[in-house]
Amino acid sequence: MSDDDALTRMRHAFAEVELPATRTLDEAYAVKVKYLGKKGLVTELSRALGSLPPDVRRERGQQVNALKAALEQAYDDHCRALTEQAEQAALATFEDLTDVVAPEPGTLHPLTRTRRALERVFASLGFDVADGPHVELARLNFDDLNIGPDHPARDMADTFFVAPPPGSRWQPGDLVLRTHTSPVQVRTMLERTPPIRIVALGTVFRRDDDATHSPMFHQIEGLCVDEGTSLADLRATLYRFVSALFERELQVRFRPSFFPFVEPGAEFDMQCPFCGGKGCSVCKGSGWIELGGAGMVHPAVFEACGIDAERYTGWAFGFGIDRMAMLMHQVPDLRLLFEGDVRFLEQFPC
Ligand code: DAH
Repeated sequence: MSDDDALTRMRHAFAEVELPATRTLDEAYAVKVKYLGKKGLVTELSRALGSLPPDVRRERGQQVNALKAALEQAYDDHCRALTEQAEQAALATFEDLTDVVAPEPGTLHPLTRTRRALERVFASLGFDVADGPHVELARLNFDDLNIGPDHPARDMADTFFVAPPPGSRWQPGDLVLRTHTSPVQVRTMLERTPPIRIVALGTVFRRDDDATHSPMFHQIEGLCVDEGTSLADLRATLYRFVSALFERELQVRFRPSFFPFVEPGAEFDMQCPFCGGKGCSVCKGSGWIELGGAGMVHPAVFEACGIDAERYTGWAFGFGIDRMAMLMHQVPDLRLLFEGDVRFLEQFPC
């Protein structure tokens, strides 16, 4: 085999076999070093030229130099191609911003809409919107509302207790996820002096989970404290409220019931807004829809909140926002409200 053949084979091995097999610049560089590095195959050839007789050396030197130049060229071309490929691959992962279709505008969740509708109606009736924390003191959630230590609601099976942060002044049992919005009544009475007229809307938590109960749900609480306010005002307010919300005159009725923080206490129903009281599938033929609880603020609650029960009277009510949203938007299953399924939410365009 002639020396020329050896150079041709080296060029072939470099430019046609080893270099094309590399996929990264690092790999390509390793091949370059193998041939053109300090101890590379071509470098060895150059070095060996010194031992050749002068007449051969010149021609052989030119051949080796031509080989070097050819390998450098092949290396540069290959690296340029690799870089271009990498750029194309990177570009392919970017979204072409000139090709973006404007996204569909979002809409408000049916619960948010219901909540806002309730706030609007109660604001028009002269109520402020008040707020309270989700992690609540058991004292405000229970004790100050006249719910004693032995009340079943305080059982671990009904209430989510929150472990106090290490080093805090709270003991186990002191903190809960609020089980109703009623502690906002207490907070408001502790902070403000009568006359008070507030609604508090928000998330509440109970250890319940089935087709009609979710461990997280929403309530609205109303409280009025003033001189001489009475059950008649409570009833008139609820009547005005349901009529305004459904934009038709709807009656409200009370059924005697017990809640520790009111006396007397009642559950209240509204006339069915769908049949006007005649009886339909929504009200299951009764003409009435159960809404929630209400009553006159219990003197023990006034005492816990530093309100003079001789001077003031008060009334309160509470009901579920989720159930109201289901009614207003004819949602058949409570869980649909919390699953975030776009196919459901899309049914509520602005
Ligand atoms: N807090 C009660 C519950 O979650 C609802 C309720 C009943 C609120 C009577 C009230 C009330 O303000 O007076 O079941």
